[in-house]
Amino acid sequence: MKKPILSAFAFVFSVVAILLFSAPASAGGLRLQENQLENGKYFLTIAGCTSCHTPLLDEYANPQTWTLEQIRTLAFNESNALNWNKELAGGRVFDLGPAGVVFTKNLTPDKITGLGDWSDTEIKAAVKTGLEKSGEVLFPVMPYHTYNSMADADLDAIVIYLRSVKAVRNQVPPHTVSTEGMQALPMTTGIIAPDNSDPVARGAYLVNSVMACTDCHTSIDPSTGAPQMDKYLAGGQPFEGPWGIVYGGNITPDAETGLGDWTEAEIVRAFTQGISRDGRRLILMPWFAYASLTEQDANAVAAYLKSGLPAVSNPVPAAALNPDFVVMETAGQIPGAPDSSTDFWKQPIALAIAAAAVVLLISLGLYLIRRRSQGS
Ligand code: HEC
Ligand code: HEC
Repeated sequence: MKKPILSAFAFVFSVVAILLFSAPASAGGLRLQENQLENGKYFLTIAGCTSCHTPLLDEYANPQTWTLEQIRTLAFNESNALNWNKELAGGRVFDLGPAGVVFTKNLTPDKITGLGDWSDTEIKAAVKTGLEKSGEVLFPVMPYHTYNSMADADLDAIVIYLRSVKAVRNQVPPHTVSTEGMQALPMTTGIIAPDNSDPVARGAYLVNSVMACTDCHTSIDPSTGAPQMDKYLAGGQPFEGPWGIVYGGNITPDAETGLGDWTEAEIVRAFTQGISRDGRRLILMPWFAYASLTEQDANAVAAYLKSGLPAVSNPVPAAALNPDFVVMETAGQIPGAPDSSTDFWKQPIALAIAAAAVVLLISLGLYLIRRRSQGS
């Protein structure tokens, strides 16, 4: 009677042992790959690649027929207007007025309309230097000036993730702007990103080499069309539309005209939740991309904006808004914010619960086996 119990026990024990000893090895192997994919997804998200290169939903195809609700979605939380079934398939339009139009390109692995037959080196060159496979220079709506100093490992991860997404056949029309006389940047390699042990350096890297805050927060010189680098991140660029007019804010540490007297928590809330210091929901500010930042990276960005970046005094006019676009935040979740509940099972506490459930099941099995062998 004792033998079956013993062998049942030995069986369960060996199953547990196999689980215990094999799990770390296989999970370790898996994790390495997943991490590269996850890192790639992370950098594509926070660098804005995903939101710029994912098309809008079909019902947004014609700007003439946009409803007020649609314009509010685009202004407050553009990610709700994106067609996630066509992640990274390109085709968003940038209308540059008399200069022409530019479309974002299809970055999925489709062989005919995407990057399927580009080599890794060709993709990296386009991202960092603006030089397209065809030899043409990309129009600088594509922020290669920022990505030029991106770390090798982060760009490697981006390419790995791009290779993993669903191939979508989507032929994007060629741009109609002229890039004549534009120069591609020199290729850069051997760049290592600072880690979070130096938050200001980490924040500087994220802001200046990954996240392209400068696209909207540095004024353009109207005579040359180039950003005014002596007022880097000092704001003032106007964005006019059905909402009225908003200006990219001065996000340098200047106390009077910038973020100098904001707390780091207020700064983090502004760029990760799109809520300004006074509680007003910001317009056109791509917080939904920055909402994916890890807490450490978000704090690093705030630390850099508060104490690393040179302060520039540059008063920025207040937003002049159509009343439909003045939304004050009351406490709690902002409408349209990403639902975090699906991340529950990635948390340590959830893993602990799952592990406890497995232990319970095993003991229940042991108990049943023992009862059966005692009964026989
Ligand atoms: C602000 C919008 C925007 C962001 C952010 C952006 N891109 Fe682009 N990208 C564009 C546009 C627009 C083009 C096409 C420019 C042209 O036609 O001259 C382009 C072109 C490209 C191309 C060339 C593809 C081809 O077929 O020619 C690659 C590769 C690319 N982007 C990758 C990326 C990656 C990777 C990121 C993030 C690290 C990124 N882009 C972020 C707008 C953007
Ligand atoms: C696509 C354009 C765009 C990009 C990219 C962008 N912002 Fe903004 N941001 C804006 C606009 C426009 C406003 C002002 C909106 C308003 O007043 O409603 C703003 C406002 C802000 C504010 C509030 C400033 C104030 O004075 O009220 C902060 C802080 C901020 N942005 C930080 C950032 C950071 C940090 C980044 C990069 C990680 C970034 N932004 C990237 C468009 C952008």
